[in-house]
Amino acid sequence: MSESHDAYATAGQHYTSSTRRDWVKRAWEEPAFHRHLEAALARAAAHGLRADLDVLDIGCGTGVALDLLLATPSLAAGRFRLARATGLDLDEGLLAIARSRYADDARVAFVNGDLSAAPDTGPHDLVLSSGVPFSHLTPDRLEPALARIAQVALTGAQDPGVALLIVDVLGRYSLEWTSRWDRVRWDYRMSFFATDGVIPATPMTTWDGAELAATIGRAAATAGAEVADLMMVDRSLAVGRHTMTGEYTPGLPRLRDLVDALAEPGSVSELSVDVDPALLRIDLTLPEAPDEVLAQHAAFASAWNAALTEPLAPAALAERLRSVESEFEGAGLGLGHSLTAFAVLTAA
Ligand SMILES: C[S@@+](CC[C@H](N)C(=O)[O-])C[C@H]1O[C@@H](n2cnc3c(N)ncnc32)[C@H](O)[C@@H]1O
Repeated sequence: MSESHDAYATAGQHYTSSTRRDWVKRAWEEPAFHRHLEAALARAAAHGLRADLDVLDIGCGTGVALDLLLATPSLAAGRFRLARATGLDLDEGLLAIARSRYADDARVAFVNGDLSAAPDTGPHDLVLSSGVPFSHLTPDRLEPALARIAQVALTGAQDPGVALLIVDVLGRYSLEWTSRWDRVRWDYRMSFFATDGVIPATPMTTWDGAELAATIGRAAATAGAEVADLMMVDRSLAVGRHTMTGEYTPGLPRLRDLVDALAEPGSVSELSVDVDPALLRIDLTLPEAPDEVLAQHAAFASAWNAALTEPLAPAALAERLRSVESEFEGAGLGLGHSLTAFAVLTAA
């Protein structure tokens, strides 16, 4: 078992746990995924993306990204259709869960394979990733891995040869890990997993927006493709799961738990049903980082803290905080739990 594999030894329990889909997941993160995917599909369609999608889900785990894809408004309404999907992962335990969940869907198959040497499953119109699988790779391995994936997606594609490639990684400058901003790759513990098992640390690479964009550009060129459009988004700026552990940022409030408790009083066992909004203030001294990162974090904290002083009922405040965050997602600098690139590739 590889190091990254060990980290998922008890993950099946987490992914099937009833507590995994908390309010933030259901009302905030999943709709954000849909919003961004919807926008990216429209941008890719402008370059000729086919409506019948052949999908590759990289690091598919239990198949969560496919669930989200199928519930995306464009697919739910039939503007795009799922023709075929292949999930790729190297964890047999998670693949077994995925296979049983999709046992009745003949369009979907799950294969065991390494994302750094993607097998010949293409061509694919849409390459999905969610839950930061690409962060398992060392920085130097991402570019060849993406070049291979782009080649698999586009080789044999029908004219005009268009693929939407989604690359999901951990953000370098998340508020969840300010003590790690000076490092690119560090031992990361998924200590937020809902499991009774031991969760070992696994080395993960974090990315900033410029580095990720440049890496995707070079990978596309190696694959003989062009990046016709690139959209980068920061996801979960204040509510990533490590805000519940406080493991890597001293002084960070348990923002995700507090937001969940505002939205659904009593849902977080150790928190009072009456959450004092002042507990959610973001008031951190940030370490060194590029000026634009610090400016964006300062603007975000200021908008967040201002929302806390508005005379809103708890559930309305949770919604208001969600809208504050969505205003800041578009920077794509690596400010959140994950940084997601949506690249429209065209065969050059
Ligand atoms: C945090 S999980 C995300 C799973 C799923 N995409 C989701 O959104 O729930 C990351 C996944 O990447 C997979 N993974 C890690 N390294 C991999 C590799 N080198 N090749 C293929 N899959 C890998 C893990 O087994 C795990 O299923």
